[in-house]
Amino acid sequence: MLWLWILLALLLLAAILYWQLVIAEGSYLGPRVVALLYDWAASAYERIKGFDPETEQWFLGLPLAMALERIPDPFVLDVGTGTGRLPRALCFQPHFQGQVVGLDLSRRMLAHAVHLLHPYADRVTLIWQDARFLPFPDDTFDAVTSLEMLEFTPNPRAVLREMVRVLRPGGILLVTNRVGRDALLLPGRAFSRQKFAALLDELPLEDIRTQYWQVDYDLVWARKRGRPVGGGVRPLAEVLRCPDCGQTGMVETGRAYRCGHCGRVCPVAPDGVVEMVRG
Ligand SMILES: C[S@@+](CC[C@H](N)C(=O)[O-])C[C@H]1O[C@@H](n2cnc3c(N)ncnc32)[C@H](O)[C@@H]1O
Repeated sequence: MLWLWILLALLLLAAILYWQLVIAEGSYLGPRVVALLYDWAASAYERIKGFDPETEQWFLGLPLAMALERIPDPFVLDVGTGTGRLPRALCFQPHFQGQVVGLDLSRRMLAHAVHLLHPYADRVTLIWQDARFLPFPDDTFDAVTSLEMLEFTPNPRAVLREMVRVLRPGGILLVTNRVGRDALLLPGRAFSRQKFAALLDELPLEDIRTQYWQVDYDLVWARKRGRPVGGGVRPLAEVLRCPDCGQTGMVETGRAYRCGHCGRVCPVAPDGVVEMVRG
């Protein structure tokens, strides 16, 4: 009889590990675990996902470039950029002439992004940083995007608020919401279609449009309320906020950004990634 209990306990343990590490990708264990799992999986990520370039253009690159077409040089932030899927899709579009900042907490995913984004190296900046603190002032970007990331953060609502904060009035938010069977196993991280739309509506967003996309994800488009102001690319040193003291005024000193207030130094690694996380 004892062996049966041991077997049941082992099965339960395997189920919990599968849930926590495979379905939730470590998200209930904290951002460091999520980043560690992505570091481990980084070299296989593109193969596992098998992105089809035409589909990526049709659903991501083209509609986003079109939505930004009135802004001469749009400034775009992609949160949880991973291996640079969104920057690639957008920069491939001939009429997109802006700049993209891609931010991620997994350093190895960013290392692969550097490689894959090589043709667009002069138009994409990659930052190693946690999405819970976006190191930019309010109203900075013309579009903020985040694909397949929100549900892996400890507090998706807070991260959404942070994304909307750095989006300028009139700017475009493009995010994914986890749906499908596995979403049921992500309490507090994935939301029903109605709840997600209501959540966005509470932020200063309008024109909220849910688009069915993949079995596991909806694409959700929205626009930040308010009178559109400014727009366009800005120098990184002008918009970077110090991850320690939160002040703008980072000075570019060759291979680093140095905070003019508290002196914190964020190195620019040899591969060009701006490292805000302390390694
Ligand atoms: C499923 S991948 C999606 C990557 C990319 N957006 C795509 O669609 O291919 C999730 C990404 O979110 C990143 N991520 C998870 N939690 C994060 C956090 N708190 N801050 C920044 N990035 C995070 C992971 O490191 C990973 O690269």
